[in-house]
Amino acid sequence: MVLGLARIQCLLVSIYQSITMVVAKVWQLVRRPEGEPSVEDFLCVEEELPACSEGDVLVEAVALSIDPYMRYKARQIPLNTPMFGSQVAKVIESKNPEWPVGTHLVHYEGWRTHTVLRSQQLKNEEHFGVMHLPDMGDLPKSLGIGILGMPGNTAYFGFLDICKPKAGDVVLVNGAAGAVGSAVVQIAKLKGCTVIAFAGSDEKVAWVKELGADHAFNYKTTDVGEALSKVAPKGVNLYFDNVGGKFTAQALPHMADYGVVSLCGAISTYNEDVDIGVPSLTSPFNEGTVIWRQLHIEGFLVFRWTARWMEGLNQLKEWIEQGKLKYKETVFQGFEKMPSAFIGLFHGENTGKAVVVP
Ligand SMILES: NC(=O)c1ccc[n+]([C@@H]2O[C@H](COP(=O)([O-])OP(=O)(O)OC[C@H]3O[C@@H](n4cnc5c(N)ncnc54)[C@H](OP(=O)(O)O)[C@@H]3O)[C@@H](O)[C@H]2O)c1
Repeated sequence: MVLGLARIQCLLVSIYQSITMVVAKVWQLVRRPEGEPSVEDFLCVEEELPACSEGDVLVEAVALSIDPYMRYKARQIPLNTPMFGSQVAKVIESKNPEWPVGTHLVHYEGWRTHTVLRSQQLKNEEHFGVMHLPDMGDLPKSLGIGILGMPGNTAYFGFLDICKPKAGDVVLVNGAAGAVGSAVVQIAKLKGCTVIAFAGSDEKVAWVKELGADHAFNYKTTDVGEALSKVAPKGVNLYFDNVGGKFTAQALPHMADYGVVSLCGAISTYNEDVDIGVPSLTSPFNEGTVIWRQLHIEGFLVFRWTARWMEGLNQLKEWIEQGKLKYKETVFQGFEKMPSAFIGLFHGENTGKAVVVP
């Protein structure tokens, strides 16, 4: 009789667990992209999540980030594992008093709707770890993966720390209507610079002008070199490069002596068959120009500034609240849109930050 009751109890517990078991949707990388990624490179699977142990939390995605660097990650991560990426998520079950239900955070566990974050992961507030979402006030929480997150700090530190702008400097920014570029345009104006911006459509060019760019061009319909000869006859002092490749080859001869290039990204080359650390003969850097113009060219990864992370976010938030810094988000509705939103980056489908809301 006693044994019978125990069995029934055990059965009830397992029925309860199977009813309450959370099933996450997860996008895996199942094939290495060749050239531009395609939707067939990814597969959406269901994953039953384990129960939370002491110190763990269960989180639900609120907004998932779509970033160009994911193209590099698609070369690096093992196949048939979750695609790498960050998201703003909300704690929906907690066995950790420091992360109660309702807490918002940013984590890098990839393209997934639900995630169990282990107590050990929650102790690591560093890059590619789990970070508390800063206080957003009335601003959308999704900004935690945009202007008030990694892309915002990329613009803030990558421009201010490397370019060290002075009033009157002539600044060139490409990818200027994107998440990072649109912030750089405005920060450069806040520092009293003259800004020359390039983006990939007339609508984007119009928006970049609204943001304060002194000169803005559609690189698809304008000759980059000719435009720079016209608007920067004395040369460009500071070049914030998001695009690389042919654009940089055309821009570099227009640098002024002692100019600085902050090499942030090279999206025009990401689908090429060239990997990090492999010699390439397709470099846009004409060594003669670099030497004769005595240029300083510096590449960076934003996580260089992890120790100063909140300094950047606090300043960016203050500028937003003061109306000095504007942002846009292109929101793709539905978790099923993750691959197409990612591929859309290479066609300029986003203005401002690309985000998927599941
Ligand atoms: N170093 C770091 O730590 C760091 C951190 C974050 C981002 N990044 C880099 O910063 C750059 C911008 O990132 P983001 O997140 O702000 O992305 P984003 O600019 O919001 O989105 C990508 C944009 O790139 C442009 N693009 C795509 N293919 C292009 C091509 N062949 N030639 C010229 N432009 C092209 C498109 O705009 P158009 O319509 O204008 O073509 C597209 O909207 C990327 O290169 C990224 O890898 C670097």
